[in-house]
This record gives sequence, structure tokens and C-alpha cells, in this order.
Amino acid sequence: MALIGVFDSGVGGLSILDEALRQLPNHDYLYFADSANAPYGEKPPEWIAQRSLAVCQSLAEAGCQAIVIACNTATAEAIQRIRAELKAIPIIGVEPGIKPAALQSQKGLVGVLATEATLKSDKFNALLATLPGDCRFIKQAGEGLVPLIESGQLHASETAALLAHHLQPMRTAGVDTLVLGCTHYPFLMPLILNQLGSSVLIVDTSEAVVRQLARQLEVHRIPSEASGRRSLCLLSTADGARLHSMAMQLLRSDIAELSIDFKTVGLDQISLCR
Ligand code: DGL
Repeated sequence: MALIGVFDSGVGGLSILDEALRQLPNHDYLYFADSANAPYGEKPPEWIAQRSLAVCQSLAEAGCQAIVIACNTATAEAIQRIRAELKAIPIIGVEPGIKPAALQSQKGLVGVLATEATLKSDKFNALLATLPGDCRFIKQAGEGLVPLIESGQLHASETAALLAHHLQPMRTAGVDTLVLGCTHYPFLMPLILNQLGSSVLIVDTSEAVVRQLARQLEVHRIPSEASGRRSLCLLSTADGARLHSMAMQLLRSDIAELSIDFKTVGLDQISLCR
């Protein structure tokens, strides 16, 4: 049975973990939330790259056989460096689904809500440059949303007001498709649907990311195990108990059979979970 590491700046990557537990239930998972350092999206690119590399090195040392960088910001700034350093294990990243959005938008008018670092990154802008010019993207940094999500304020009026502020340029432009370019944002889905209406198509890449993880596990011949008790270890650099309670609230997949452990750790303590 493989141990799969899933890493985000905080609780956002739980949206990817949730999908992984659904599609690939027969593995052990180690979820690492660097909540003491969230949000990453408002930090300098070099800091994000170095920190993300250090986290992935620690996950590899702790025995992870595959790592999902469940963070658009860390993927944008660090995935090439991480792949170059950790050649032996598959590293799967996430990026805003602007390509599927461009294909699906009827009006050719797409909103992209992501962190400032992701929108400014070379990787995102290189991806944007590959798309045909007949689709217009309204890009908006969701400044301030991640701390509200980290503190569990998913339905608070403050969160709704800030979200409405960030979505306003897209509403004014009349987008028919919205890309959620930060793994924290799917947890705001009820507010987003409420504010944009159900006619706007929401593009979230979690499913595709986990399909890619499944392909990589096959390519690397990493086996799964149908029997035996599976484990989920939740590690946070800020507060393991809080991450655990957020996970219990946010995960929708079947976790009844999982043996769940949680801890507050520093980077050098990741292997404590094994
Ligand atoms: N969840 C992350 C992302 O997908 C990062 C959010 C943050 O820490 O700013 O971009």
C-alpha cells in the first residue's frame, strides 16, 4: 500500500484529498498543511519556491511514494524545481483550469479567481499565452479570502462581502464560466453559486488532478491495497487539532473506515506520523 503525500499552505488541499479518497481509497494518506505560513499567495515567489521544495523533501524523507502539490501557488512557483530535486517519485501539481474553461465558455468570457502569486507567475502566464486569443479572461486575485477560509468562516457575512467584491469585475463583464484557481476556493462554493447564479459554469480541476495521480501511480507501478485498515495522517504547522476538526467538517468522502491521526509539527517532524 502506498503512502501518498498531499501538501497545501493550509486547508485548501483538503478539496483535493477529498477527491483522492473518493477515486483512490486504497492508499494511506499524509496531509501536510503549512498553516503557520498561510497564505502563500501573498508571499514573494522565491520564498514560496524554497518553502515548497523543503516541504516536499520532508514528505519524501517521511516515505511518501507520490506527492500531490495541492496548491496552485506552490505548483506555479516550485513544481519544476521540486521535480528536478525529487526525480524518483511522481510529483503531481494543480493549475487553474483555464484551458477547459476556454473550451467550454459559450461567450468566450471567463473569470479566473486565484492568488496574486499564481496570477503573476510565469507558469500561469505561459499557459495563458498558449490559448487562442478569442477567449477573454477576467483575472482577479482573491486577496484576504484564504485567511477567512483558514479560520473556518465559510459562510460569514465578512467572507460573503469580500467574495462579492472580488467577483464584481466578472459579473460586470458578464462571464459565463469561472475558474477556481486556488484549492481553498471550492469551500466557498455555496457562496459563489449564491452570488453568480447556477447558470455560470464553475471549473475546478480536483477530479482531473486525481486522475493524473492515478495514472502516475500506474506508470510508477505503485500498488494499492484493497484490504487492511487505511490511514490518514493530518499534519499542521499551526494546529493539528484544528486541521482535524476542519477536515471532519470539510471532507465529504467516506472516512468512516480510516484510522485518522493528527499532529502539530515542524518540517523536521513529518516522519512522526509513520
Ligand atoms: N490553496 C493555495 C492555492 O491553491 C494557496 C492559498 C494561499 O496560501 O494563498 O493557491
